[in-house]
Amino acid sequence: MTKTILTTVLALSIRTIAAEPGPAKPIPASTAPLNDSSPSKGAFSTVYEDITYTFETEEAKNAFVQKVTASIYHQIGGKASMEAAIEIFYKKVLADDRINHFFKDTNMAKQKQKQKAFLSAAFGSPVKWTGLDMRTAHADLPGLNDTHFNAVAGHLQATLEELKVKKELIDQIMAAAGSLRDDVLNRKPAAK
Ligand code: HEM
Repeated sequence: MTKTILTTVLALSIRTIAAEPGPAKPIPASTAPLNDSSPSKGAFSTVYEDITYTFETEEAKNAFVQKVTASIYHQIGGKASMEAAIEIFYKKVLADDRINHFFKDTNMAKQKQKQKAFLSAAFGSPVKWTGLDMRTAHADLPGLNDTHFNAVAGHLQATLEELKVKKELIDQIMAAAGSLRDDVLNRKPAAK
């Protein structure tokens, strides 16, 4: 169930375009903004975190706004909260001798950006994740196991608690993170 939710959120494919008038097109079935490769531009736009999202119908725009504002990402405070969370999270990760060796050759500034982008998309930010899938990203980490995963998950949870995120949201986030375990550890999903 949680995997389905996360996959759905991650599958949110959103592109941004400038608002310009253009020929009418069929009403899109989803709330996704218009494809930016299309020459036709919608007349209904909304700005979220400095990005303009444009739609052909007001209904589509409203549905988008509703979806984004209902997301975990928005509820925990959007970009500013994610930035704060990532800083605290990686301080904890790098101070933990059970796991910090995995990051000894890592450019942490880049890693923080990537983790912020990944988790933001996973929690419902309209900016989609364009990096590696979790299986590929962790395929080359010899010895990575449940103990390491639990340590990282523990730091994520402690970070959210420190930031006073509501317990109900923390539970949802931890369930979503937990659904990535088999991919991160590169093993087959457990039989249901
Ligand atoms: C829910 C758990 C996790 C999530 C969401 C996650 C997320 C990510 C993301 C988004 C990337 C960047 C992918 C890219 O390059 O496009 C990454 C890379 C990486 N992750 Fe994780 N990760 C998780 C668990 C772990 C664990 C348990 C470890 C080890 C203790 C780990 C160690 C690493 C390392 C070493 C890299 C590569 C850094 C580099 O490029 O040098 N991750 N992870």
